[in-house]
Amino acid sequence: MNNVYHFDDARRSIVITRQDLPAPWINYLSNGHLHAFVSQAGGGCLWWQSPLLFRLTRYRLQHLPMDTPGFYLYVREQDGAIWSPTLRPCATPVDERRSEHRPGISTFAARRGTLRVELALFIPPDEHTLVWDVTVYNDGTRACAVDLFAYAEFGMLDWKQDTDWEYYVRHNLNVWLDEPGQAVVYLYHHHYHPRIMDAPLVWLGAAAPVVSFCGDRDAFIGPYGDEGRPAGVQRNRLGNEAIACGEPCAAVQTPLEVPPGGRVRTAYFLGATAAALPHWPDALGRMRATLAALRQPGRVDALRARLGRWWDEHLDVFHAALPDADCARMINIWNPVQSVHTGRYSRSFSSQASGVRGMGFRDTCQDMLAIAYRKPAWARATLLYLLSQQLPDGRTVHECFPGQQRAPDPHVHIDDPLWLPMLAYAVLAETGELALLDCAVPYLGADGRPAGTATVWEHLLAVTDFIEAHLGEHGLPLILLGDWNDSIRAFATPARGESMFAAQQYVYILGQLRAMAELRGESETARRLAALRDKQMQAMLACGWDGAWWRRGFDKDGNAIGSAACAHGKIWINAQSWAVIAGVGSRAQHERAMQSVYEMLNTDFGLKKLHPSFPSWPDVARPYSGYSPGCGENGAVFCHANTWAIIAEALLGNAERAWQYYRQLVPHLALHKAGLERYQAEPYAYVSNIVGPENNKYGWANVTQVTGTAA
Ligand code: GLC
Repeated sequence: MNNVYHFDDARRSIVITRQDLPAPWINYLSNGHLHAFVSQAGGGCLWWQSPLLFRLTRYRLQHLPMDTPGFYLYVREQDGAIWSPTLRPCATPVDERRSEHRPGISTFAARRGTLRVELALFIPPDEHTLVWDVTVYNDGTRACAVDLFAYAEFGMLDWKQDTDWEYYVRHNLNVWLDEPGQAVVYLYHHHYHPRIMDAPLVWLGAAAPVVSFCGDRDAFIGPYGDEGRPAGVQRNRLGNEAIACGEPCAAVQTPLEVPPGGRVRTAYFLGATAAALPHWPDALGRMRATLAALRQPGRVDALRARLGRWWDEHLDVFHAALPDADCARMINIWNPVQSVHTGRYSRSFSSQASGVRGMGFRDTCQDMLAIAYRKPAWARATLLYLLSQQLPDGRTVHECFPGQQRAPDPHVHIDDPLWLPMLAYAVLAETGELALLDCAVPYLGADGRPAGTATVWEHLLAVTDFIEAHLGEHGLPLILLGDWNDSIRAFATPARGESMFAAQQYVYILGQLRAMAELRGESETARRLAALRDKQMQAMLACGWDGAWWRRGFDKDGNAIGSAACAHGKIWINAQSWAVIAGVGSRAQHERAMQSVYEMLNTDFGLKKLHPSFPSWPDVARPYSGYSPGCGENGAVFCHANTWAIIAEALLGNAERAWQYYRQLVPHLALHKAGLERYQAEPYAYVSNIVGPENNKYGWANVTQVTGTAA
């Protein structure tokens, strides 16, 4: 696929030479507070802290034309031609175009005739600005005058309000040009916003003097116009529209002249200044100071260098020298890059995901396992936050929203708390800081407020209380609202239906907790934990083995889930891999079960979650879930579950098979096998799942970027 993209591993980059891909291939740009994603075509979104509460610019997820709006730079030439270094938004043909994603920075370059324009987008550490670093090259023999227009469309910050109430709340804002700052400034101030006092001031400033501006999207675009040919750019003069209501945007015009054979570098800064309303006009002053500093000569280069160092430090922690370049690239570059993104965004926000899921509780525990050994302080801080989302009886929330108080959902997934000790163990293993277990952390009250405190160690032990209080008739943990497999709840009622996977996880963490108890010198607690582990082990051995693999659990009527006796879903992947990981059963059982996995679940693109898929509507009256066969929870290749099978084969010493499973999951290789038009997703990021062979879209990759697979 050399005519579409290629990797440049020395630069840690992917160069994309065909921009009209079947789906956006995104890169995340972030400093941990201000975040953006941008696609190879220039579509993208900017947000502050939370993609739900402070979504600064709009991105229309499922609308056509796809992948709009974004960070648009219009180039207007003297002959009236309007084009962009990115594929979006102008249809004007150019002679050459390429984009490059690297960790934390994306670069777009295009040439039309003798004029070349390059745009680099990045958010530097400690500076709340999306920097647009622009260079215009004139390869011709005569001086060339061009007008550049930078443009971004703002939203109403609170994404739900923007979606549901936009026609009311758009009367609560201002956009104007701040002369001293030479920036278009956006202030949103609807008092229903749940955290309006924390809302930032948003601005678009230019390095060069602004000769015209526009704050009104509809005036910029023109009636029934489109982003590709905005009225203001066609006129070559924006109308200087400041607004106190309407559809907000920021557009600025800066002309420049490039000598023959020369180049001119300039920049735009799309940024945020914290706490606009309570500290007004101080916030405005801070914005001006920030912009003045950003305009200092050499500043953009210094910020780029600082960003590069941040990523070097992250990526240099671990390096594997391998003869297999495709795997080495994933292990050394793109997988640890994606792990930073999932650490920040969990399952919430991407070019496909709306942001509504917040930080999944178990998901974030899982994601931090990949952060703990590279940035232990980050994993430690996240652990303390997650502990504050645990209730006194040991259960935890399923989704959390940092910075917001929400009453916990009374319905519980059995597995959420089980991931907590795994994360605590990983943090301790990296830091050796046993005293962490004595830190006090509040519990979460039923009203969403802190309720009482306990030590980290007490929090962790409360997990065992919760599980022991929720065992079923076979002695295995109840499914409740689901385990790692959400859809398994279809087999359960609140009081019946048991999960083998949760049982395996439970014995695994009981081993970890016991090790911690011993390190603390608490021999009595260690003995108690060992006894709980033996009891759970016996329960599994008594009912879990099906003959050639492990059962997945029991339904509300006591029938086995995942048994040869079942018509569908005879074998489920996780119960096999986790038997090995948790050390449940004999070596012979492990070998046999993993062989069954190979024979029944393996496909060209990886291991299916279960086999055979369950039929769904309209073929049956009461399906297991609404998922069509081969989709999602129902027989797709679930990439995250594949990672545990890889670990299991590695633990068994089956190196070749572990390697085969690892390799067939490498996105770049899966994409080649499926074909670009079928696979669609990025070749440098894992997806959550790939449609399985029982569906005619076999090979279509879904839920890109924000998946536990990365960790
Ligand atoms: C998705 C969800 C995750 C869940 C998994 C399996 O990846 O994000 O929370 O455990 O699906 O259902």
